Amino acid sequence: KKQKTVLDIQKMKTEGEKIAVLTAYDYPFARLMDLAGIDMILVGDSVGSVVSGYDNTLPVSMEEMIYHTRAVVRGTSGALVVTDMPFLSYQVDRRDARMNAGRLVKEGGAHAVKLEGGTNVADTIRAIVDMDVPVMGHIGLTPQSVHRMGGFRVQGKKEEQADKLLADALAVQQAGAFAMVLEGIPKPLAKRITESVSIPTIGIGAGIHCDGQVLVIHDILGLCEKYSPKFVKKYADVSGIISQGVRDYIREVKEGIFPDDEHSFK
Ligand code: KIV
Ligand code: NA
Repeated sequence: KKQKTVLDIQKMKTEGEKIAVLTAYDYPFARLMDLAGIDMILVGDSVGSVVSGYDNTLPVSMEEMIYHTRAVVRGTSGALVVTDMPFLSYQVDRRDARMNAGRLVKEGGAHAVKLEGGTNVADTIRAIVDMDVPVMGHIGLTPQSVHRMGGFRVQGKKEEQADKLLADALAVQQAGAFAMVLEGIPKPLAKRITESVSIPTIGIGAGIHCDGQVLVIHDILGLCEKYSPKFVKKYADVSGIISQGVRDYIREVKEGIFPDDEHSFK
């Protein structure tokens, strides 16, 4: 299978083909979704919430992102792999940002990186793109800004917020990003942004008019019951299957049924 590139992803917008993106954090999930034909895999810092059990993404480290990226890349042969730059890996200064983006590519094997923000990070995006690491932007509800936003809330509902988000989108494009995530934005505004930029928009809680969609794999499989935002659609109930398998195993151990002869060495 041919590995998708950022150019392939951009071509999908011009040809009107929707871009399907999911998050993955390890080898088995990456392998299954790659075989199923996913276009892009995001090694999201959402790993902190859905795998490490933190309340938000802020504690996630560079070392954790590199570790998860390596596992995902080993399970991938067709999808483009994009890794999130974690909190504090790009905000402090440009040199850090470039070094950390480079580490995600060199040590993790990512094909591109993603970072959160609009006009405020445009110079940072440009600095990373200038060393030939493709960057995906991420505007709207940016989870690393949880304390400023006062929780995970939809952004751009008020007129002046909407104008600010459109300016953010244009700044991200102007800085050289190859695509951008639109998160937690009203459907009409996401439509307006998508029509205003020539690079693909990937929506999450941003309605049908984006060029592609992304969701967290644990959310769509019902693996993370902590919270469930309105924009998550559950495509399977894997929690139920895991619980049943574990209960069956416990019972068979307790009752002396497992291991039978079939699972023992003679
Ligand atoms: O961390 C993440 O999973 C994300 C997306 C869902 C866009 O940033
Ligand atoms: Na993220």
